[in-house]
Amino acid sequence: PEPTPGFPLPSEHTQEAHDPASDFTSKWTRADAKQIMAQSDSTVAPGENSMSPDVTMPEIPEDFPTMNEDVWVWDTWSLTDENANQISYKGWDVVFSLVADRNAGYGFDQRHWNARIGYFFRKTNADPAKDKWNYGGHIFADGASIGNTEWSGSTRLMQGNHVNVFYTATTFDDVAERNAGRGGTPPDAAIAKALGNIHADQNGVTFDGFEHTKLLEPDGKMYQNKDQNPGFAFRDPYTFEDPAHPGKTYMVFEGNTGGTRGDYECKEEDLGYQPGDPNAENLDEVNSSGANLQTANVGLAVADNKDLTKWSFLPPLLSANCVNDQTERPQIFIQNEGGKNKYYLFTISHQFTYAAGMRGPDGVYGFVGDGVRSDYQPMNNSGLALGSPTDLNLPSESPEKPTANQNGRQFQAYSHYVQPGGLVQSFIDNVNGVRGGSLSPTVKINFRNGISAVDRSFGQNGLGPFGYLPTNVRVGGEGHY
Ligand code: FRU
Repeated sequence: PEPTPGFPLPSEHTQEAHDPASDFTSKWTRADAKQIMAQSDSTVAPGENSMSPDVTMPEIPEDFPTMNEDVWVWDTWSLTDENANQISYKGWDVVFSLVADRNAGYGFDQRHWNARIGYFFRKTNADPAKDKWNYGGHIFADGASIGNTEWSGSTRLMQGNHVNVFYTATTFDDVAERNAGRGGTPPDAAIAKALGNIHADQNGVTFDGFEHTKLLEPDGKMYQNKDQNPGFAFRDPYTFEDPAHPGKTYMVFEGNTGGTRGDYECKEEDLGYQPGDPNAENLDEVNSSGANLQTANVGLAVADNKDLTKWSFLPPLLSANCVNDQTERPQIFIQNEGGKNKYYLFTISHQFTYAAGMRGPDGVYGFVGDGVRSDYQPMNNSGLALGSPTDLNLPSESPEKPTANQNGRQFQAYSHYVQPGGLVQSFIDNVNGVRGGSLSPTVKINFRNGISAVDRSFGQNGLGPFGYLPTNVRVGGEGHY
């Protein structure tokens, strides 16, 4: 691309595939992420959206419907198979969400400390604009999961009616603090799964028989642990098979670079400037700015047995050292382009987790390559695939404390998840001061060759039905007919 005056060129990435077991880690560099600002309009009136409409989520109306009166709903995923197909089971669509009691006396921003995995179902042929999702309750019995709080994951239909629920087993030691919705000391985290059964009849969907197994705890080498940083991230498992490596099951997850917080030193490769770029930053200055404290990665693990109860870490697929501290809810989306499989790695991130000197919106970021492990090319040259409307000329904020003159929709949605067909579902956080806790209208992005654009012909001016997570593969007959 042509450089924007005053901005560096992005890094060069070949997209070339490497063996998933090798130690090649792709870098989302400062030079890449600087393109977010290079592509942003510096002349908009304060509080307008400064980003290109191609990467801006259409505005959610303030009078959005409440998905469920009893629970707040946020991170959500469908029942899937090993190829990320969304499964209709015996005529029912089933989705899993982090939920927290709306009436427990704490606020929406305290939901994390009391998160449980709940599920919803509705008939596969329902009208997504009219028929509500039926709430099935918590998927696990009280006290059954590993840890005392359940954070995000993914759910796979296995043989017959078996399901594996992969989740983050989060443990708050101070249970009184946790119950008060404050969280107290930072939590421990492990990646776990529960193998159980799904049942469906004309009345709906139920689950039983869950057996929980702890799968992974951070090793402190490739993946940072709690001793090294109380604010470490180790969560959000998503498993899949790779057509290029049949017979293996992989898992991507959110991690941080191993090592004690503050010890990491930014490297020239993390900055990623092209030789002689007049707009390159100086490495020592970047390090002394504190940017070295932000060390997100997207982790990879491989299953060692067919039961998926034993896993080994592989080196991270992607690092965002000195760029951002959180690359959350990663997923692999494979798309055939011109007869060739292209691998899109999607992950969500926040404004407030960017490193010093970096700026970007809350939203979903994407990277494209020729394999699961590739020299990933950031989508749209920056990494940003879809963000909430934001004036990036103003300083970054957090959803709890938006400033008055920022765009009132800068935190309208989060936890974007890219479904088959480029349908992106997310949850509503804060629309002009109206707090959410319900699923957003689903939007559609079209992408090819690593370039994406919001499809504004989808739904109404780009907004599809609320909580639209359609299924694309049917399994198990016609249960409800
Ligand atoms: C994303 C996220 C996940 C985590 C969950 C906790 O919204 O931060 O990484 O599992 O929320 O509520």
